[in-house]
Amino acid sequence: MVKKICGIGAGYVGGPTMAVIALKCPSIEVAVVDISHSRISAWNSDKLPIYEPGLEQVIQQCRGKNLHFSTDVEKHVYEADIIFVNVNTPTKTSGLGAGKAADLTYWESAARVIADVSRSNKIVVEKSTVPVRTAEVIEKILVHNSKGKIKYQILSNPEFLSEGTAMQDLLNPDRVLLGGNDSLEGQEAIQKLKDIYAHWVPQDRIITTNLWSAELSKLADNAFLAQRISSINAMSALCEATGADVSQVSCVLSKNTKLGSKYLNASVGFGGSCFQKDILNLVYICESNGLFEVANYWKEVVKVNDYQKSRFVKKVVTSMFNTVSGKKIAVLGFSFKKDTSDTRKTPAIDVCKGLLADNACLSIYDPRVSEEQIRRDLSMNESHWDHSIQAKSTSFTSAKQVSVFADVYEATKDAHGICVLTEWDEFKTIDYHKVFDSMVKPAFVFDGRNVLDVDKLREIGFIAYSIGKPLNQWVNC
Ligand code: NAD
Ligand code: UDX
Repeated sequence: MVKKICGIGAGYVGGPTMAVIALKCPSIEVAVVDISHSRISAWNSDKLPIYEPGLEQVIQQCRGKNLHFSTDVEKHVYEADIIFVNVNTPTKTSGLGAGKAADLTYWESAARVIADVSRSNKIVVEKSTVPVRTAEVIEKILVHNSKGKIKYQILSNPEFLSEGTAMQDLLNPDRVLLGGNDSLEGQEAIQKLKDIYAHWVPQDRIITTNLWSAELSKLADNAFLAQRISSINAMSALCEATGADVSQVSCVLSKNTKLGSKYLNASVGFGGSCFQKDILNLVYICESNGLFEVANYWKEVVKVNDYQKSRFVKKVVTSMFNTVSGKKIAVLGFSFKKDTSDTRKTPAIDVCKGLLADNACLSIYDPRVSEEQIRRDLSMNESHWDHSIQAKSTSFTSAKQVSVFADVYEATKDAHGICVLTEWDEFKTIDYHKVFDSMVKPAFVFDGRNVLDVDKLREIGFIAYSIGKPLNQWVNC
């Protein structure tokens, strides 16, 4: 009988995932541990470290009962029957495979703590997204550092939640994937994990596979989703060149039951901590296996995404008479998608940096992202995944080029143009008459998410651009 579960890593995955297990399994004690003191104290406070609709209610319901957040990693690992490892697995920034391979430093240090403190048999669950065959490496670390005759069963249970809908994805998942080995012990471990999910997930949605299929399926899943977005974004460029409308093309594709309707929204580009990282990880694994054609195929998905972001910047600059120097441009939305405060790999970073490089003055508004976070993101100089040398540093030298506002009307006042970079619902209900009146003319809108009614905006007087649709005649003439 499983009595205690420990989740290592209290981030975007660890926090919500462990909270839902606690909610659905009241007889199990769930401890979520992290080396970050600030993260754990935020989980124990009224201001949670991440924003996710519905999360606060679940935390309030379970915290202090069967859900605990702690920095005492050793204690809770020692006591647990099952340990979920939810640590970050970012792209390596230096050394072998830099720019592509997954950095397993955090995973390895978690495994070493498990080996160090465990005195009873443990089931160790890979919840983080990892390269295929990671379980083999983890097993070696555990077995070679084990204190006594302890048996470890390693399972792969990748997480499929999306940010912004994490709670509904966890409460009503379309599938739960469990990978384990064929041995009797492996199958017993799978059954124990299955029994936990069975508290709320119908049996037919729980898929079991071998370890390597489970690990690879997670990378494949994200690669396929991102590939659909790059495919429709590639089409959006062709639509703009030919007068076709990408929303109409998407609609036609979505009615094809062989294709389905999801991940067909053309956009300024996909963001988030997973897609680029996981595809590059896949690319690296392919290259390591000598599969260069396969690696190049997946690389193109990321390249098209980069192209889409730079194409957007180019569209803004060329539309605004080939210069944005000294012009105020209001950026609406900074998070990588709506309903999250997460800005990891948000397309807004690259778009803002592109506009700043052209000496624009940006006034940024996002309902959930703090000014501090925006400034941190814009001041970071990340190396580019496809360049062997450091990407040319942005010319963003002056903090004065960026202002952050808590009010959308303040942000757009006296602006020459507006760029919508996140699809927050509230952007649809802004009083665009009022916005137009306060802007410098001609007033431009660049809808990077195709969420605004551009016909209405044009009626008001805006010159409006949306992804994959022709600019209004006025500008084309
Ligand atoms: P995150 O950075 O938000 O959280 C990871 C946490 O692990 C951090 O708080 C960090 O301090 C902690 N940590 C690192 N090493 C530790 C250690 N040795 N001991 C204790 N704590 C440690 O990352 P995330 O977004 O939650 O992602 C975690 C994993 O889940 C990644 O592999 C990611 O690819 C995968 N994933 C993420 C999402 C998503 O939407 N964010 C979805 C599915 C899968
Ligand atoms: C993704 C996967 O969906 C999820 O299964 C996995 O567990 C983690 O990675 P996430 O990154 O949280 O989830 O969000 P998702 O909704 O997939 O969006 C990713 C990016 O693609 C966002 O920037 C979003 O705006 C963009 N997107 C999504 C599009 O541009 N067009 C679309 O049609 C869909």
